[in-house]
Amino acid sequence: MEPQKNDPKNLWDWFNPKGRNVGGWAFILNRIAALGLVFYLYLHLFVLGKLAQGPQVFDQFIATAKSPLYILGELLVIAAALYHGLNGVRVLLTSFNIGVPQQKQMFYTALLLSVLGTLVFAVRMFTVH
Ligand code: HEM
Repeated sequence: MEPQKNDPKNLWDWFNPKGRNVGGWAFILNRIAALGLVFYLYLHLFVLGKLAQGPQVFDQFIATAKSPLYILGELLVIAAALYHGLNGVRVLLTSFNIGVPQQKQMFYTALLLSVLGTLVFAVRMFTVH
């Protein structure tokens, strides 16, 4: 007998890319983006906590936050927020039985808009100071 595809009891199957459809990839990307946003939320609170240590400490952080590595990290947050939000609208619509036959096109649209939106932010953040 053929082994069952993507058996949730098999740990490797959680990471096996074989046999997944577009909706599956949309869900995985949505979850990764969501976990990234939750991580960022705590990072954001940690950084804001520096305000309690006085203006000098915060100014020092702001100076380091202008480095390209920080900007790249901020772009990841923007990409995650755009994709998670736009795909979230897709999930909500299909949950109400709206546009189910077009769910793939909605995923590609959400992905495209996220990439384009992130590019707009990238240009502004790397060129405007
Ligand atoms: C525009 C704002 C947002 C919208 C429209 C939205 C929408 C959604 C939807 C529809 C789901 C369910 C996905 C599914 O069942 O397939 C979801 C899951 C989730 N969202 Fe959001 N969300 C938003 C913002 C956020 C933010 C800011 C965070 C984190 C700080 C977040 C964290 C999560 C988490 C952790 C999940 C569970 C993911 C999973 O089970 O795979 N969301 N969101």
